[in-house]
Amino acid sequence: MEARIFPSLLAADFSRLADDVGQVEEAVDGLHVDVMDGHFVPNISFGLSVIEDLRPTTKLFFDTHLMMSNPAFFFPHFKAAGCEMVTVHIEVAPDPTRIAEQARANGLEFGLTLNPPTPFVAVEPFLHLVDNLLIMSVFPGFGGQAFIPEVLEKVERAREMIDSEGMAADIQIDGGITPETGRQARAAGADIFVAGTAIFGQPNPVAAVAELRAALED
Ligand code: DX5
Ligand code: ZN
Repeated sequence: MEARIFPSLLAADFSRLADDVGQVEEAVDGLHVDVMDGHFVPNISFGLSVIEDLRPTTKLFFDTHLMMSNPAFFFPHFKAAGCEMVTVHIEVAPDPTRIAEQARANGLEFGLTLNPPTPFVAVEPFLHLVDNLLIMSVFPGFGGQAFIPEVLEKVERAREMIDSEGMAADIQIDGGITPETGRQARAAGADIFVAGTAIFGQPNPVAAVAELRAALED
């Protein structure tokens, strides 16, 4: 599968979101929308009304990363705001079977994610339920942190299991992705690369996407 790049909205300029997203729209494969509730993580990003206002300005797929303690309650609202996929943390839903059903009942694709210290075995029994397995390569809550290379082992294990069992899940990696760390994650088997600082944090985001893509296709 070809590598896909999803810039993280968190690193965009919140006073001109539509312009920032519009600038990279043709160069990227989806938009990573980081929602933080100030409870699951010690930070607050933006909420439903921002997503709703951004929705008509772009055709990009909205991949919504829910760093929230109570994500399922909001599924109908994320759907109504125009999101296509919700990814929830296994740390708040140790058995996500019902939550996965609720996402699908709301017409949403479903992803699971795990923090750097959470072992692969926590998500392993539920991989058949997901469209997206997001392996966090930093502690969630803030952009601009350094990539944690130890998580690459989880990418390798996920790749092996998804391929050997013919499962549909994409493997996504998020946090500290640059052309160099992206290349490492690609070699380990990741499909979708989330990058905030390395795209919206650069003077020329379109050139930054091209540079990342070149590294991933190497
Ligand atoms: C971290 C978020 C990431 C973040 C990545 O809590 O989940 O999506 O925006 O930012 P960078 O690419 O700067 O590490
Ligand atoms: Zn994220």
